[in-house]
Amino acid sequence: MHSFDPGYAHTPYVGLVSDYPGAETYPPNHFRIEWGPIFHRGRLDGTARVLVLGQDPAAHESIARRILVGTAGRRFQGFLNKLGIDSSYVLVNTYLYSVYGQHGGTAHAHDPDIARYRHAWLDALVTNNSIEAVITLGGLADHAFHAWREAPTSAAYNGAYQHLLHPTYPDSAAASGADATTVMKQLTTNWNKALNVLRNTVTPDVERPFTPYGDTLTDADLGTIPEVDLPPGLPAWMRSDEPWASRQGETATEKRATISVQIPEGLRPF
Ligand code: URA
Repeated sequence: MHSFDPGYAHTPYVGLVSDYPGAETYPPNHFRIEWGPIFHRGRLDGTARVLVLGQDPAAHESIARRILVGTAGRRFQGFLNKLGIDSSYVLVNTYLYSVYGQHGGTAHAHDPDIARYRHAWLDALVTNNSIEAVITLGGLADHAFHAWREAPTSAAYNGAYQHLLHPTYPDSAAASGADATTVMKQLTTNWNKALNVLRNTVTPDVERPFTPYGDTLTDADLGTIPEVDLPPGLPAWMRSDEPWASRQGETATEKRATISVQIPEGLRPF
């Protein structure tokens, strides 16, 4: 038997996925709207206790149609596992579409129409679950959380809040010239601090001894995306720890239009 995400066929989610913003709200020069909106990952059955706000979907998410399934997702899944949260979570992103270009994300941090739809999701999730903690990944998500807190509808939420460095912060900081070892340690220190707070706040699915991060993320710190988080029938390698999707192309236009999917070696049944 296989488990799978049954999707959005019930209220209030059926309404949210039927009526989502497009190019009028997410300008195509700043968002890859051509890959469609990618809404969430995790429980929509009322059992979520942790609500996570990520940033924007990337290549893996565009194929799997669920958010945070690539490198950032596997790193953060490991964080949830350390909390003992193996299934009682729901994740949404700040942006419904992948940001295009360096400044697309910050340029739209205050857009009221983008916020309105995001608030509708956050309102639905806190109303239909008993959320004990909201976790944001990165600065844009932190901003989005505070914007939501200013809206009267968010008053229904009275749980904890933790803002984390984004799971791929060390990669982008190192690419901009920062020392790779230093920025990785910054991330693990930041995540250990948050875990220490959240362990006293969040009811775990599974009680397990706390193993803090060391100075860097190891393979053992990566979580595996559960089968139940993805649409039915997706092959197991789409949940593996190996990357399997990347943007390809000789020109910016070709690269924007092309995602190459390759089954990782060692995971091929042939
Ligand atoms: N993928 C997502 O869906 N969200 C992120 O924040 C990063 C990668």
